[in-house]
Amino acid sequence: MAAQPVVGPLMMSDPESATTKSSTTQEEDVLPKNLVATLPAREGWSEPLVQYHNYWFRPGHLERILLVKQAFVPRADDIILATQPKCGTTWLKALAFTITNRSRYGFIDHPLLTHHPQHLVPFIQIPGAGTGHTDIDPFGFPRLLATHTPMSLLPPGMRSLGCRVVYLCRDPKDALVSRLHFENKAFPGTDLSMDRCFSMFCKGFSPYGPFWDHCLEYWRESMARPDSVLFLKYEEIKSDPTQVVRKLAKFLGVPLTEEEERSGVAQEVVRLCSFEALTSLQVNQVGRVHFSDNIVMSNSVFYRKGEVGDWVNHMSQEMGEELDRIVQHKLEGSGLVF
Ligand code: A3P
Repeated sequence: MAAQPVVGPLMMSDPESATTKSSTTQEEDVLPKNLVATLPAREGWSEPLVQYHNYWFRPGHLERILLVKQAFVPRADDIILATQPKCGTTWLKALAFTITNRSRYGFIDHPLLTHHPQHLVPFIQIPGAGTGHTDIDPFGFPRLLATHTPMSLLPPGMRSLGCRVVYLCRDPKDALVSRLHFENKAFPGTDLSMDRCFSMFCKGFSPYGPFWDHCLEYWRESMARPDSVLFLKYEEIKSDPTQVVRKLAKFLGVPLTEEEERSGVAQEVVRLCSFEALTSLQVNQVGRVHFSDNIVMSNSVFYRKGEVGDWVNHMSQEMGEELDRIVQHKLEGSGLVF
């Protein structure tokens, strides 16, 4: 069965009259566009970033995050896939989509064979059709939604309703290397060096960064509410993907049955979503992902090497050790280690 288009209105209330409105401070009552224009901005990445509540964002993304925070109407059964960019979002989207939709689609004629994972699970924070609307309408329930938004800036209703959140993070050294390549490939005219990216990243200045604060917020929440927040690492999926598929299925409320275990469903999911399988498909080699009118990216840009430890090929041992020291210090006492 072919997947349906994912374009259409999503449930958002009017941000100015919303009864679900969550913001209480005067600052957040300002419409996102006006507020964003007043924030500290800094150049360095492919686009200047603005700082809000300690995090750095592309201005358009922050507008959207604030709009979503004010006006998005969550449902208790929503599933949120949360990541920082370049930590394996595309992979997590493919896995979660395949697991939660496995009773609808067979592996022979699966939507992933003809659709980019980024098309199958929409982002809630990417700029779209304008105030009060998004350009996304995921099919089926529960809704699978993705975001790079820090935990503290998600609509509070998601927490009070107990929406399930899967957070995926990654060794920051590999995430940084992936980021460098993505910036230079996805944004024409950008030519960033490793040294420059490293220096910005180590100061906490990166899109959706500081990297460690983003991880820590979700980590602490996963410790406090393990039934609602599942914390995963890219490296963990790489080392035992079948086990992670089982864990994900259980967390998402659709555990694998004994019959499915016998027939190798977990292994099928792993195979279908593997880097090798996805990159061999035409849909992931040509064409473009239209996030919105002004954000269009080539399908292939979301795949590069898909390996653990590729950082050694792009930064020196000393740089690796320095970043490790910074991250260790920032995470000290939390129990989170990379
Ligand atoms: P590399 O640049 O290290 O290769 P995101 O989806 O968050 O943008 O992350 C992109 C990173 O995930 C890239 O890492 C990409 O190659 C990797 N990736 C994408 N799909 C993958 C898959 N199916 N399995 C493993 N890694 C994948």
